[in-house]
Amino acid sequence: MSTVTQKSITYVNNTTAPTITTKEIDLDTCYNDNEIVIKVHAASINPVDGLTYSACNYFVGGSSLKTFGRDFAGVIVRRGKDVNIKWQLNKKVNGQFKHVWGEKGSFTNYFVCNPEEVRSINTFETRDDDKSSKKYNDFIINGAWPLVFGTGYSALHEKGQVWTPESKILVIGASTSVALACVNIAKKILNIGTVVGICNSKAIEHNKERGFDHLIAYNDPEHSTVESIQSLIKNELGGEKFDLIFDAVGSSEFFPVMDTVLKPKSTNSQYITIAGDAVMDFTNKSMLGNFQLGPIKRKLNPFKKFNYDFTMLDNLFTYMELGATMIADGTYSPEIDSVYKFDDFKIAFDRVDTHLAKGKVVLDMSDI
Ligand SMILES: NC(=O)c1ccc[n+]([C@@H]2O[C@H](COP(=O)([O-])OP(=O)(O)OC[C@H]3O[C@@H](n4cnc5c(N)ncnc54)[C@H](OP(=O)(O)O)[C@@H]3O)[C@@H](O)[C@H]2O)c1
Repeated sequence: MSTVTQKSITYVNNTTAPTITTKEIDLDTCYNDNEIVIKVHAASINPVDGLTYSACNYFVGGSSLKTFGRDFAGVIVRRGKDVNIKWQLNKKVNGQFKHVWGEKGSFTNYFVCNPEEVRSINTFETRDDDKSSKKYNDFIINGAWPLVFGTGYSALHEKGQVWTPESKILVIGASTSVALACVNIAKKILNIGTVVGICNSKAIEHNKERGFDHLIAYNDPEHSTVESIQSLIKNELGGEKFDLIFDAVGSSEFFPVMDTVLKPKSTNSQYITIAGDAVMDFTNKSMLGNFQLGPIKRKLNPFKKFNYDFTMLDNLFTYMELGATMIADGTYSPEIDSVYKFDDFKIAFDRVDTHLAKGKVVLDMSDI
């Protein structure tokens, strides 16, 4: 018997405070033949972790214990006999585990999963550069990116878009972790000529260094965001509109003037949102606090005048593979806002809820 204490951040529903619960598990018997056991060293927090908690009220949630967390990075410490040979003991792995109100989540020190079901999971190697010069260890870095990188990747690929150096993209919410991953893929992998971002005036310099060609402040006291974008199209982009508007924060301001900013529908131009019509209030913990009907109606409208989708990240190996390659060759470095000890998870959750983080908020689970 190899008994260990499994520590997890759990809840029952949105009236029960997130808490650390413990369970004694036998490492030799806690998995089945097609599962692996990952000793998790780091896991980053995503807004969806809090949003699914908020949406789980007493009636829909039942009485079962649910575990927070999607992103993870750790080491394989047990493997079932039918598991693919790729998943060997002591291999370092990272990924994102999509679930809603699941008993299993990644905010646990021992995460048991079937890698074929997770799909968005990959191995990673420790980088051999000078360790003393690295601000964060490889687990923190690799636990920080799967979900946001996958979301940025999907916005650029899921509609069968064909990208050229003449292509033009507008990203609403340029400072979000999703947008920062997206601009890296757009500029460094797809060689997209023009990526414009919208962010706070205070974040313009920071985001310019991340690869945006133009940045527009949403808090410019003299011009509305729409006016600034229309003027940029006219004066800087030679009158050419965008092939993709990617809303990574929640906005509706371009809908009334879409034909002035987005190329015609027939060119496979797209308006893709991952956050709906308005910036969400992550501190609102009521079930329908961030529910929006508008995006659902717009998505389902067969007569819509522009290609519109409100999308959810899918589990794909392709973005895990690309992210690992880009990190290895130095073309992507996940932005990290802050790192907290597992026991300090409440402070870390609150940091994400402020919607002010510049990069990922990560839980360091190496010593639990
Ligand atoms: N559908 C999906 O599958 C999916 C997947 C991932 C994320 N999401 C959603 O996408 C959004 C971004 O997620 P994330 O983890 O990348 O966020 P994040 O990194 O936590 O975003 C933080 C940034 O949001 C920016 N922000 C706050 N208010 C803003 C506003 N009014 N206008 C523009 N930017 C604003 C801030 O930058 P400034 O300093 O520029 O204000 C801040 O740095 C969240 O709503 C999340 O729930 C959805």
